[in-house]
Amino acid sequence: MFLCSLCLFVAKWFLCLFVACLTLSGIVDKFRVTGGRELHGRVAISGAKNSALPCMAAALLTPETVTLHNIPYVRDIITQRRLLEDIGATVLTPELRTHKISAAHVELFEAPYELVKTMRASVLALGPLLARFGKAKVSLPGGCAIGTRPIDLHLAGFESFGAEVKLEAGNVVARAPSDGRLRAADIHFNKVTVTGTENLMMAATLARGTTTLSNAACEPEIVDLADLLNKMGARVNGAGTETIQIEGVESLGGAEHTIIPDRIETGTFIVAAALTCGELEIKDCRPDHLTAIIEQLRSVGVVIREVNPTTLEVSCPDGLKAGHVTTAPYPKFPTDMQAQYMVLMTQAQGRSEIVETVFENRFMHASELQRMGAQIHIDGRSAIVDGPSPLNGARVIASDLRASASLVLAGLIAKDETLIDRVYHIDRGYEKIEAKLRAVGADIERVIAPVTATQSSEFNLQVASLQESKLKLEL
Ligand code: EPU
Repeated sequence: MFLCSLCLFVAKWFLCLFVACLTLSGIVDKFRVTGGRELHGRVAISGAKNSALPCMAAALLTPETVTLHNIPYVRDIITQRRLLEDIGATVLTPELRTHKISAAHVELFEAPYELVKTMRASVLALGPLLARFGKAKVSLPGGCAIGTRPIDLHLAGFESFGAEVKLEAGNVVARAPSDGRLRAADIHFNKVTVTGTENLMMAATLARGTTTLSNAACEPEIVDLADLLNKMGARVNGAGTETIQIEGVESLGGAEHTIIPDRIETGTFIVAAALTCGELEIKDCRPDHLTAIIEQLRSVGVVIREVNPTTLEVSCPDGLKAGHVTTAPYPKFPTDMQAQYMVLMTQAQGRSEIVETVFENRFMHASELQRMGAQIHIDGRSAIVDGPSPLNGARVIASDLRASASLVLAGLIAKDETLIDRVYHIDRGYEKIEAKLRAVGADIERVIAPVTATQSSEFNLQVASLQESKLKLEL
C-alpha cells in the first residue's frame, strides 16, 4: 500500500517535471481559448515576479544564505536562478516556492548575453556584484517589444558611486575605485526607474557613507526589496517614498523573507472576472498595493469588495462604462495593467482614451485585438477605444508578457475559439495562468501546434490532465 502510494507520488512528480519542461522550454507554446464562460470561484495569487527578481539578486550581496519564500514558479525566475548558478551561487529549492540562495562562492562576475537577451532584469546583478566584489560585467540589454529601454540611469548612478563604467564589446564593464569599495552619493533620477532604483539601492548598501536617491521609484516591489535588505543588516530608510536614504555598512548577512503577492496578476484576475460577468474571490493578494487599479476599475463599473486585507470579491452586475486612464509610475495606474484595461474597455459603453506614458511602444496588443473585432485607434501614445464591440475568436500573436495576458482575456469573451501564439511570453510572469483560469470555469488549454481537428486532441488532453494533477498535488 505504502509502496503503491510512493510509486504514484514519484510517477506524478515525473509527469509534473515533464509538463514543466514542456511548458518552460517553449515547445508547448499556444493557448486555445473558447470564449463565453463566466468565471466563478476562488483564485490564489502567486508571489510577485518583479519583487522576487531583485530579491534573488540581493542574495549576491552576502556570503550567507538568503531564504526566499513565495517565489512564483515562472520562467523569469528560472532564468534568474540560472544566472545566479552560472555566477557560482548555489540555489536550493526545498519546496517549490522556496529558494535558499548561497553566494558564498562566486567565481564569475558577469551576466552573459544569452541570459540578458531573454530577461532584462539580469542587469540587477550589476549593483550587488559591483558593491560586494568591486567588479561586474553584464551584457548591455538591447531594445525589446515595448521600447528601447536604456539603462543609462543605472550606469550614471554607478559612476556617481565612483565606479569606472565602460562599454566593451556590447558588455557593461564596471569597476569600483581602487580600494574596492563604492562611495556613497546623492543621486537624482531624472526619470523614475524601477530596476534602476533597485540596482542603486542594492549597490549603496555596501558603499562607504550615506547615499540619497531622489525621484526614486515607489513601487511595492522597492519596499519589499528594502525590507529584505534591512533584514540582511542594511540600513535603508524611506523606501516607498521618492527619497530613499541608504547608510552603507561593511557587510551583509543572511536573512529569511517572504515575497509580496503579485499586484499585476491580481489586477489581471479582477479584469477577468469583470469581463466574463462572473464572480471571483481573489485570495492571497494585497489590495493596498492596488489602490489606483481598484479605483479605476470601480469607476468603470466593476464591483470590488475588500473582504479582508488579503482577499477581494469581484463582480460586474451592471455592465461597464467607458473611462479614461493614463499610465504612470506607482502609486498611479501601472503600465503593466494597460493592455488588460484596454480589453476591458472594448466591452464598455462609450469611448475611452488610454494614454501610455511609461513606455514608448506598448500598444502591440491593440492590432491583435482589432483583428478580433475591437474598435481601437492608436495615435502616438494614446489609444482610443470605442465600445462595446463583440469580439470574435482569431489566431493572434503575443508580443510581450502583458500583451499576452490581454489576449487571453480577450479570448475568454470572444465568440468561438482564439488561438494565442508565443505564450512563452506569458510563462515569463504568470504562474500557471491556464490552470488557474480553468479552475474557475474558463475553457482554455495549452496546445503544441496549429490546431487541426484530430492532431492535438489526444496530446492536449494529456497535457491538460497532467497539469490538473500537478495543480492538485500542490494544493
Ligand atoms: N528608463 C531610462 N533609462 C534607464 C532606465 C529606464 O530611460 O536607465 C526609462 C525606460 O525606458 C522607461 C521608463 O524609464 O521608459 C521606466 O522604465 P523602468 O526602468 O522603470 O522599467 P524597468 O525597471 O526596466 C520594471 C518592470 C516592468 C515594468 C516597469 C515599469 C521589473 C523586472 N520590470 O521595468 O515590468 O513595466 O518597471 O513599471 O521590475 C512586466 O512585468 O511586464 C514589466 C515589463
